[in-house]
Amino acid sequence: MSQEQPTIKRSLSGIKPTGTGSPHLGNYLGMIQPAIDLQEEYEAFYFVADYHALTTMRDPQMMRESTRIITAYFMAFGLDPERSAFFRQSDVPEVTELAWMLSCVTNMGRLQRAHSYKAALDEGRAGEINHGVFSYPVLMAADILIYDSDIVPVGADQMQHLEMARDMARGFNENFGGEFLKLPEARISEEVATVPGIDGRKMSKSYGNTIEPLLPSKKLRKQVMKIETDSTPMEEPMDPTDCNVFTLYKLFSTKEEQAELAENYARSDFGYGHAKQALFEKMDARFAPYRERYNDLIANPDHLDEILAAGAERVRPTVNEVMERVRSAVGLPSKPLR
Ligand code: TRP
Repeated sequence: MSQEQPTIKRSLSGIKPTGTGSPHLGNYLGMIQPAIDLQEEYEAFYFVADYHALTTMRDPQMMRESTRIITAYFMAFGLDPERSAFFRQSDVPEVTELAWMLSCVTNMGRLQRAHSYKAALDEGRAGEINHGVFSYPVLMAADILIYDSDIVPVGADQMQHLEMARDMARGFNENFGGEFLKLPEARISEEVATVPGIDGRKMSKSYGNTIEPLLPSKKLRKQVMKIETDSTPMEEPMDPTDCNVFTLYKLFSTKEEQAELAENYARSDFGYGHAKQALFEKMDARFAPYRERYNDLIANPDHLDEILAAGAERVRPTVNEVMERVRSAVGLPSKPLR
């Protein structure tokens, strides 16, 4: 009896090592957890975007450390290396080869309209921005297209990059006359936009307003206590609809618990200090088991390196297949398989 295997679709994403420190709550809720959850339904290929980090990072020690921290994060939160691939972008150097091919079908004007480039322009002079920043979306498109990806879970800020990747796939296919590259779909997580930092702006490393979920208890409490609030005195009712503490609390509690906290906000013997303590306790309880796993993982760098190496091996056949397809499409000779 022949049994038809349903083809599993592939979920692909990259996360950039950000330098010192670990991923923050916005990264976790907006990208890391949703991406991990997708491994139930999809074949997950996730990587540490170390080539992309090179646009800004100048510290090799930090690059290595940050790569391990991100790997330990994904493993601690449940990415299963037995069925999903977690690897380094640079373990697939062919992405730079594909990026070159995509560069050759991409207009300068399109790249000049990229938000990331325009943001860099706002900060400095055009001539001083490195070329890696300018061509960032091309490398990212190669990252996505080299794995025949079906969906790409990313934060809303990456939407334009996804559009560009689709355009480049289309451009390549049109220029060379065939369906060589698969057009991926974005999977945008709604939550990411709503995670406020301790100052109420979107949580972002560049604003210095982050909370790192796997910090030791004491440090986590310290960060929570720093959340900015208005100066409503204790005796007066506080407004839960316009409060960073309450917004964050909602991410870690049930509807009933939220209603209870809202009632407390009206009481004359309940202040922001109490609200922050309630938030801290919720977060601490939620993250304690993951923190323990993370600490075990990060203490064993050799094991993390093994996970990364196994991940690279798992994606290898797809890389070989897609690269042979595109090389043949453009008329370049095939390469001995790696
Ligand atoms: N640009 C993404 C970020 O800054 C990281 C990234 C690199 C990525 N390559 C990717 C995300 C491919 C998704 C798919 O977050």
